[in-house]
Amino acid sequence: MKFFLDTANLDELRKGADWGIVDGVTTNPSLIAKEGIPLEERIRQICAIVDGDISAEVVSTKFEEMVPEARKLAAIHKNIVVKVPLTRDGIKTTAKLSKEGIRFNVTLCFSSGQAILAAKAGATYVSPFVGRLDDIAQDGMTLISDICQIYRNYGFKTEVLAASLRSPLHVAQAALAGAHVGTLPFKVLDMLFNHPLTDKGLDQFLKDYAKAFQEVGTR
Ligand code: E4P
Repeated sequence: MKFFLDTANLDELRKGADWGIVDGVTTNPSLIAKEGIPLEERIRQICAIVDGDISAEVVSTKFEEMVPEARKLAAIHKNIVVKVPLTRDGIKTTAKLSKEGIRFNVTLCFSSGQAILAAKAGATYVSPFVGRLDDIAQDGMTLISDICQIYRNYGFKTEVLAASLRSPLHVAQAALAGAHVGTLPFKVLDMLFNHPLTDKGLDQFLKDYAKAFQEVGTR
């Protein structure tokens, strides 16, 4: 499973990249707005920190404007994956430009049927949102396993990028369901390290070691 960081914050990206386990980054207009830095500038900064696929999302909604915007974003860096919403215009843009070699992440996917559209359009990734479905009392994780199964049935090359993951449990369940990628807020990536038995075990190992060698030293 690839791990992408779901943030546009450079400090978080540097920390995550430093651990050596981050394969890419996803951003969205809300995450960019939170940082207060123009999209292209922030995307260039992100590309300099993480060497992996970086999703940069269009803000146009019409095909005629989305196409030049997607081309402009893709030209920023070879690692850019253009993110478009799962709308008629987004799918039409994906179908047209993926034939030219531009890679797409089709986002805001909330149903298996929508995910089939993304795959047929030639998207590199589809982003089903787990947490936002859970928020409306629908099972977000079932959507991940359903899409993985459908893609396997037909040999679609599009990768399932589990998005809107809110907890370590979400990450493990998405992995179990077969998601190719999980995009994680920094807080969730950080929480994945934690287990009380790891802390307890390490504490005991170090105490035993210190005790044994102190005893040797006092003989
Ligand atoms: C990433 O691609 C998505 O935009 C993001 O995971 C959405 O997460 P949220 O539902 O927690 O805002």
